[in-house]
Amino acid sequence: MCGIVGYAGRRGAQPILLDCLKRLEYRGYDSAGIAIVGKELQLFKAKGEIAVLESTMPEMEGSVGIAHTRWATQGKPTTENAHPLTDCSRKVAIVHNGIISNFMELKEGLLRSGHTFSSETDTEVFAHLVEAELKDGLVDAVSKAIAKIEGTYAFAVVGEGHDEIVATRRESPLVVGLGEGENFLASDVTALLKYTNRMVYIRDGEVVRVTADSVDIFDSKGEKVSREAEKITWNLEDAEKGGYPHFMLKEIYEQPEAIHDSLLGRIEGEESEPFFQDNRFSNVKIVACGTSYHAGLVGKYIIEELARIPTTVQISSEYRYSPVARENPLVVLITQSGETADTLGAAREAKKRGNKTMSIANVVGSAITREVDYTIYTRAGPEIGVAATKTFTTQLVAMYLLAMELGAQNKTLTAQARRSMVGTLRNLPRAVQDVLNQARVIEALANKYSDARDMFFIGRSINYPIALEGALKTKEISYVHGEGYPAGELKHGPLALISKESPVVAIAVRDHTYEKMLGNISEVSARGSPVIAIGFEGDTELSKFADDVIRIREIPPIFSPVPIIVVLQLWAYYIAKARGCPIDKPRNIAKTVTVE
Ligand code: F6R
Repeated sequence: MCGIVGYAGRRGAQPILLDCLKRLEYRGYDSAGIAIVGKELQLFKAKGEIAVLESTMPEMEGSVGIAHTRWATQGKPTTENAHPLTDCSRKVAIVHNGIISNFMELKEGLLRSGHTFSSETDTEVFAHLVEAELKDGLVDAVSKAIAKIEGTYAFAVVGEGHDEIVATRRESPLVVGLGEGENFLASDVTALLKYTNRMVYIRDGEVVRVTADSVDIFDSKGEKVSREAEKITWNLEDAEKGGYPHFMLKEIYEQPEAIHDSLLGRIEGEESEPFFQDNRFSNVKIVACGTSYHAGLVGKYIIEELARIPTTVQISSEYRYSPVARENPLVVLITQSGETADTLGAAREAKKRGNKTMSIANVVGSAITREVDYTIYTRAGPEIGVAATKTFTTQLVAMYLLAMELGAQNKTLTAQARRSMVGTLRNLPRAVQDVLNQARVIEALANKYSDARDMFFIGRSINYPIALEGALKTKEISYVHGEGYPAGELKHGPLALISKESPVVAIAVRDHTYEKMLGNISEVSARGSPVIAIGFEGDTELSKFADDVIRIREIPPIFSPVPIIVVLQLWAYYIAKARGCPIDKPRNIAKTVTVE
């Protein structure tokens, strides 16, 4: 997720672009840049937040330009990799939000025909493709260039000698703001609301030309399209959260896109793109903290099921002080921030023990990625709410991808089984969207139980860690005491705490543990606890055992943690909302924990 803005008018473009860009900083903040068309094309980029760009850039003259704030997905967060990126002649500058999945193939072709590259990004290929097609104007060149691109994008392009911006999109957002004698474009209306509330939304496959006095939209056949502007009534603060009351809710709703992006280019063809070429690992050790640790616990089930490789999971702060075992595992460190001190310390300890290390991180170029041998990046975009949501579901996606790769290497996953898994992975964004469509039902149930002081979350097998994560989400944002248990363990002690004052959330999907789960639900209802069960659609049995049932569409059980955790994220969110808690900034906890 990155942010792009553009301005074409009669005022100086530089301060306006910078002002608009600052409102998109929530979309990324590892580097930023600006390009302005004056007598010639001027360009300036800086590593770090927009404030760094602002304090270091020279004054630029011109009233047409584009700017970008980056959240790296391909290529480290450096000045060279910052956008705008240019063609060989530096006469075309482009900004991009998205991922070009066939960039390697395109880059090789461009290199063969003599183009030279100055960054490690996927984006730069597009600047060279536009350069190669630039004979009949920018609109024509951009239209021809996008025909070669696979992946997701919103591009904005400027060229020396052209007093226009040409932009286009596929699956990444792009909006044009209409002014008087000036027009704007951006990834999000938030960026433009100070200047105009009249917006035209660009659709997939369309190309738009924006000048000071005109906005022309062309469809994929090059035909002109006319579209009415929409009037936006949000205030600035609402707009920053995309109209959602909290970042957490916005990020919960971003999960279909985040999952889709995290899969992009990684499941095409017969084999997953290999994350590493080394298949000598007889065992895997996953090390992480908090929510990332729960992703690791789910990962253990997936790796053992698909690759049959013994996997252990340890909390980072414990791993560092644990005895050194004789095996030589692949140590997988899961951390969305890539900066958690305990997990960084664990990575160093693993290296000291002579182990190969892999990180699963969301922040490109973060500290952990510089310490380890391999990295799988999740592509969730920046997460601002303190409670991890979209970074968790994308960590689960990384676990499926890693397990499939290990399974293929170990020959424990047949080509047919892999194909069927790829099919389900492709449908995961839809499965999550189905849950989001039920938010009102979940909200009503959360309101019903929001007065509880204690809550239990139970599950078995792959959904036991999801019970732990549901409990963690609930306790950290609503301050309700939530406990997650493997359902079979209740009878060994915790049943003593069960009463009609303590609702039990039971994950009971139809898998090999289903009958046992029904038994555990009966145990708690017999002691007066209200039971809220989460099960598959069409399961009529469950309502005979539980007081309330939340249903998700049936999915192979190994993938059920993804939609189920989204139910529990919404559950925790609405409980916290009903209790009036400061959801995005819960007391006593920080987004990134850099102390041990
Ligand atoms: C809970 C939460 C934390 C983090 C933990 C590790 O919602 O966000 O438990 O998961 O602090 O953070 P990372 O993944 O950045 O290492």
